[in-house]
Amino acid sequence: MSATQPRHAWRPPFAIRIATPIGVLVTALASLFTLCSELKPVPVPPAPAAALALPSVALDAERAHNPCALPEVQASLAAGDDEATVAAFGGGEQFRAAVVVGNAPCIALDDPQRLWVVVNKLRPLAPTDYAPASLGRIGLAATSPSTGLVEDAVTALGEMADAARAAGVGAIGVNNGYRSYRLQQTTYALHVREQGQSGADAGSARPGHSEHQTGLAVDVIACSPRCGGLDEFGSTPQGAWVAEHAWEYGFVVRYEQGETGTTGYLPEPWHLRYIGRELAAAYHHGGYRTLEAFFGLPAAPDYRH
Ligand code: DAL
Ligand code: ZN
Repeated sequence: MSATQPRHAWRPPFAIRIATPIGVLVTALASLFTLCSELKPVPVPPAPAAALALPSVALDAERAHNPCALPEVQASLAAGDDEATVAAFGGGEQFRAAVVVGNAPCIALDDPQRLWVVVNKLRPLAPTDYAPASLGRIGLAATSPSTGLVEDAVTALGEMADAARAAGVGAIGVNNGYRSYRLQQTTYALHVREQGQSGADAGSARPGHSEHQTGLAVDVIACSPRCGGLDEFGSTPQGAWVAEHAWEYGFVVRYEQGETGTTGYLPEPWHLRYIGRELAAAYHHGGYRTLEAFFGLPAAPDYRH
């Protein structure tokens, strides 16, 4: 006992003093036991079997070097499902790369029925009077009766116009969608009469050389408060919005500023070409400005004759 401790300070009896730490210890042990009995083993995911990894590696190699041998590529090509074909290649960039390096002999860039067709002054349509088997009708305000377009492009264009309106830039309408060989003849002849042949060739394709004849191209216009013309489209809010967002709906602005030496045409911010969402995303993300560069094709500044 220390000198400072009061003489009559109460201390618990020895039995209590010893019993308290023992009680605490017993309680702790009991809790630990309960906890352990409630713990369940954590399931460990099975390690991937080497046998499962091999086919995926082989598939990737096949996709890169011989994509046309893949059953899903053959099936989607036979079904005419072009978006599925691009997906079966592994996506837009893989599709593009396989075509450019020559690993995709089943992909013909001159097949006018395919999303990936490239038509220009050096790549006429074959047959020259080609017409799509079926067309949908664009359900937007129009300034001409030429409102046909392949069905998937009609849907995509409608979605794009809805998005533009929702973004507050106003209504998008259509000037021309599909133009037949005959209509292209008339259109081109009109341009020649008005501007002479070289003037016409800078802005109007000769019959058999127009993307409009595939049903995959559409000339869009601004329609708020009323529909305007092609020449003013680039300076409208709709024109700015389309330049930025058309790719999200599967379209590319086909004739861009500064690309006349490759495309053969003066800029046309209104002329949209449908290539599908997968290819348009690869085109956009890759920073391409012409389909010729995208697919590694020669520039087409002029006709051969
Ligand atoms: N204006 C584009 C080049 C066409 O006539 O197809
Ligand atoms: Zn056009």
